[in-house]
Amino acid sequence: MSISIKGIGDIAKMRIAGRLASEVLDYITPFVQPGVTTDTLDQLCHDYMVQEQGCIPAPLNYAPGGHAPYPKSICTSINQQVCHGVPGDKLLKDGDIINLDITVIKDGWHGDTSRMFSVGKASAQANRLCQITYECMWKGIQVVRPGIHLGLIGATIQKHAETSGYSVVREYCGHGIGRAFHEDPQVMHYGRANEGPILEAGMIFTLEPMINAGRRDIRMLSDGWTVVTKDRSLSAQWEHTVLVTETGFEALTLSAGSPPPPTFIAQ
Ligand code: MF3
Ligand code: CO
Ligand code: CO
Repeated sequence: MSISIKGIGDIAKMRIAGRLASEVLDYITPFVQPGVTTDTLDQLCHDYMVQEQGCIPAPLNYAPGGHAPYPKSICTSINQQVCHGVPGDKLLKDGDIINLDITVIKDGWHGDTSRMFSVGKASAQANRLCQITYECMWKGIQVVRPGIHLGLIGATIQKHAETSGYSVVREYCGHGIGRAFHEDPQVMHYGRANEGPILEAGMIFTLEPMINAGRRDIRMLSDGWTVVTKDRSLSAQWEHTVLVTETGFEALTLSAGSPPPPTFIAQ
């Protein structure tokens, strides 16, 4: 495994790509309402990325080994869908929770981020799952600094998820990112604090924990992309692209509309 170290010029480009990805989420937020289809959200985001931002939507026709090309420009994962939900003609309804996952390519560099949205008014249980998952992501980000083992991130996330009564999906993970969508390392959202490579300044990777209200087991739908919980329990996910700095971390996928970090995060 070789983890690339980004130079200052690369980092400047990644900051731009990261902000643009987050700004797509800012743009689409007011459209996430009961009665809209995920196809409409996909088309709106596609046009915003291409026409307003001059970006390429990275998911469109993305075909990692063994997968058919991904047919849409964003991922829309509703309720028991864990990740990679494919937009379609289904209407969002009051009480749904949905993850929108955006990856842009700007000037050859990738920015990758996702947020949860409640459609209308979601249940208290659904909102708690979204909130704890957000905390899991930020608790993982907060331990990032040169000299730690990568495994500390997963151990930190797993602890918060499991002490909250939830489970961590094992089959999908965060990833290095840069000129390529998915690079080394694989960033597990569970595991042991003293395992894995040692972080160095200039590494860039995503944290994107998928947390289930029920059991951790998943299955794939027949479309070959959409991942759902086996027990049909709700699942939530948040994602940031993060730089390891000399003193800690910098979240690259922030913009004016980003929800504030939890209050436990040192500013
Ligand atoms: N954005 C997802 C991630 O966080 C990957 C989506 S791949 C796609 O890694 F093909 F489904 F879009
Ligand atoms: Co990602
Ligand atoms: Co993503």
